[in-house]
Amino acid sequence: MAPILRCVDISVRFGGVTALRNLSIDVEKGIIHGVIGPNGAGKTTLFNTITGVVKPVSGKILFEGRDITGMKPYEICKLGIARTHQLIRPFKNMSVLENVLVAAYFGSGKIKVSESRRRADRAIKAVGLNGFEDRPAGSLDVLGQKKVEIARALAAEPKLLLLDEPVAGLTQLETDDIMRLVQSIKDEGVTVVLVEHVLKAVMSFSDRISVLNNGEKIYEGTPKEVGVAPQVVEAYLGEEYGVG
Ligand SMILES: Nc1ncnc2c1ncn2[C@@H]1O[C@H](COP(=O)(O)OP(=O)(O)OP(=O)(O)O)[C@@H](O)[C@H]1O
Ligand SMILES: [Mg+2]
Repeated sequence: MAPILRCVDISVRFGGVTALRNLSIDVEKGIIHGVIGPNGAGKTTLFNTITGVVKPVSGKILFEGRDITGMKPYEICKLGIARTHQLIRPFKNMSVLENVLVAAYFGSGKIKVSESRRRADRAIKAVGLNGFEDRPAGSLDVLGQKKVEIARALAAEPKLLLLDEPVAGLTQLETDDIMRLVQSIKDEGVTVVLVEHVLKAVMSFSDRISVLNNGEKIYEGTPKEVGVAPQVVEAYLGEEYGVG
């Protein structure tokens, strides 16, 4: 099957810093594709580049075979790529429903307000926040706010969902809750790219994992392979990580 997303030889520079260097990653349709690596490896920059927030100095990004390099973030969103942010940033004074409605309305193509309401309701239900629609988003705990962030992404009804550290700062139980949600999103047919430092989550839920270090892909394989690859152990894991 053709990959849903292809990053081909992309390089990104910020002044003198090369954040991504000739990076190529193919993401197969329908899977959870993990991306791991040390702080500053370029994981968030990869998401910023895929979503058009950052322009690569070279290389191409193909989504469903179409070249999206250089397109505007809202155009890319409308094609079916949504993301969450590492630092959650809901509109705190707006209600949960309003937060998700805004995303549903502006994240999709031309749709009616009534249709965006339907999409927002579906997304809120999918993350389990039904009953909390009228609460100001800022009044929810971290888990709740992370769910608002995911609901906002889902409201655009993406084909590809990019999650940037969705379980950072959560307890074990909360982590399990979010990862069950991520699995159910995959089961609905949405392809997921998961950036995460919490190894238990990324290792047990990913079908495939790319490892970045210093802006380069140093390894890619199944979680089992990644857990024992010497270059991954040296650059990131510290010791072998056994899976299954
Ligand atoms: N907007 C920016 N301007 C300048 N430098 C940036 C910018 N965004 C990222 N960088 C630099 O690019 C490199 C990659 O950063 P990035 O945030 O992508 O790493 P990361 O893998 O997401 O790290 P973390 O695990 O800490 O979130 C770092 O050296 C960072 O300082
Ligand atoms: Mg990051």
